[in-house]
Amino acid sequence: MDQVPVDLGESRSICAVDNAQSGIGETQGAAWRVIHHGIWRRPQVLIRRLCGSFTFKIKSQLHGKRKYPTTGCITSYILKDDIDNPIGDFQVSQLAIHKRLRAWKKSASVMESLDGECQSLELLKAQAHAWNHKFSFINSMSLKCAVELGIADIIHAHGKPTSLLELATKLSIPPTRNNDLRRLMRLLVFSGFFARERDGNSHDHDEELYIPTTMSALLVNQKDVNVSSFALAMLDQMFLHPWYHLSSWLKQDNLPATPLEAAHGKGVWEATSQSPAFNSLLNEGMASDARFVAKVVVEECGEIFRGLSSLVDVGGGTGTMARAIADDYPHVKCTVLDLPQVVASSEAGETVQLVAGDMFQYVPPADAVLLKWVLHDWSDEDCVKILKRCKEAVPSEEKGGKVIIIEMVVDFDIRSPELAETQLLFDMHIMVQTTGKQRNKYEWRNIFIDAGFTNYKITSALGLRSIIEVYH
Ligand SMILES: C[S@@+](CC[C@H](N)C(=O)[O-])C[C@H]1O[C@@H](n2cnc3c(N)ncnc32)[C@H](O)[C@@H]1O
Repeated sequence: MDQVPVDLGESRSICAVDNAQSGIGETQGAAWRVIHHGIWRRPQVLIRRLCGSFTFKIKSQLHGKRKYPTTGCITSYILKDDIDNPIGDFQVSQLAIHKRLRAWKKSASVMESLDGECQSLELLKAQAHAWNHKFSFINSMSLKCAVELGIADIIHAHGKPTSLLELATKLSIPPTRNNDLRRLMRLLVFSGFFARERDGNSHDHDEELYIPTTMSALLVNQKDVNVSSFALAMLDQMFLHPWYHLSSWLKQDNLPATPLEAAHGKGVWEATSQSPAFNSLLNEGMASDARFVAKVVVEECGEIFRGLSSLVDVGGGTGTMARAIADDYPHVKCTVLDLPQVVASSEAGETVQLVAGDMFQYVPPADAVLLKWVLHDWSDEDCVKILKRCKEAVPSEEKGGKVIIIEMVVDFDIRSPELAETQLLFDMHIMVQTTGKQRNKYEWRNIFIDAGFTNYKITSALGLRSIIEVYH
C-alpha cells in the first residue's frame, strides 16, 4: 500500500482523538475517512473524545462505499497493540489530512483506484464465491463419476493404500488418462471422499496413495448401506434437465406444476410408470436409502415399533424398509402399499405383503402406518388427503394406533451449517421435481391438525431427518 501516509507498524488498534468540538458522529466519520483513504485499513478503531471519557469501538467491515460526515476534526491518533495498551502516538493535523485528501481527489483516477482497492478486495472475494457456486455442480458430477467407476469399491477392497497406477489399472484407464484420473482424485480427496498419502520414496504424482474414509465407505456399492444408488438416481438426466426450466417455470402462473413437468411433459410418477429404466433406477435409489435408514431406525429407535402387531408402509417402494422391520420384529405383520409399477418390480418376500394401490384412495388398516419420504413429495393439500386416509387406517392413540413419518423437519435440531444447507438444497430439489416441500415443525403441525390428528411427537435421531409419531 504505497499510498499509506503513516506507517502504523504492527499496532492492532488506533485511538483517534478529536478536538471535542465536533459531534461524535462527525469524529467517527473523520476517523473512517482516514482509514478508508489508506492511512489505516483495519476495522478496529477507538475514538476517544478529549473532553470527557467517551470511548467506543467501531465494529464494522470496510464494505463498499459508505458516506461519512466530512466535518469531524481529529487531532491525533494513538497507536495501540491492544485496545487499552498504547505503544506510541502521532499527531496528524486535520489540515494535513485534508491536504492529502485534496491532493488525492485532484487525480480522479487515483481516487478511483483507492476506493477501488477496497472494493476490489470485496469484489474478488465475491467473484471467488460466485465461481464456487457456478462450479458446485462439478462436485456432484465428480461424485457420480466416482460411483459409476466404482472407485470406492476398488480402494476399499485393496486392503492397503492404493496407488494411482494400481487404481488406473483396476479401472482399465489407459496410461494417457492417468493424469486426468489424478485430477479427479485430487478433487475427491479435497471433498473428503478419500484421503491421500504420499509414498515417502517418491515425489512422482503417480505414487500418490489413496486411502478410504468414512465417506468413501458409503460409496462402496457392494455394501448394504451405501449412498451410491441414491446419488445415481438423483443425478440422472430426468432430475437434471428440469433445472434448465426453473427460471421460466417460476414466471408461469399455475401449470406446469413443476420444472420437471416443464422439462418432460409429465410428473415423476408418470415417468416411473412409462420408463422401466427410470423406475428401477429410482426404486433402487430409494431402496438404498431405506436400507440405510432401516438399520439406524431398527438399531437406535426400535421402541417406535414396540407394541405393534401390524404396520403398512405407505409408498414403501420395493419393500426394503418393511422387510427390515419384519426381520427384527417378526410379530409385526408388515404390508407395503405402492403404485402398480413399483409393486410389479418388487420381489415378493415371505415376510412382507405387497399391495398395489393409490394412497389417495385407500390405505389398508393396521396398528401403524409408516410414511417414509412420501409426504415431502406432495403439497399441503395432498398431504392432508393422504393423512386422512392414514387416519382412517389406524386406531386411536388409546388403542395403540399411530402414523410414523420419517422426514426432514427443517431447522429442528440442526447443528451445523452444512446440515442446514443440505436441508435447503433438498428443499430446492423437491420444489423442482415435485409439488412438495421440506417442512418446518409449524408446517407439519398445520397439516396434522387439518387432517384431524390431535397429538404428535418429533424425535431427531436420523441426522438430517426426524421421526414424527402422529396420533388421533
Ligand atoms: C420418494 S419415494 C419413497 C419410497 C420409500 N418410502 C423410501 O423412502 O425408500 C415415494 C414413493 O411413493 C410412491 N407413490 C407415489 N404416489 C403414490 C400413490 N398415489 N400411492 C401409493 N404410492 C405412491 C412412489 O412410487 C414411491 O415409491
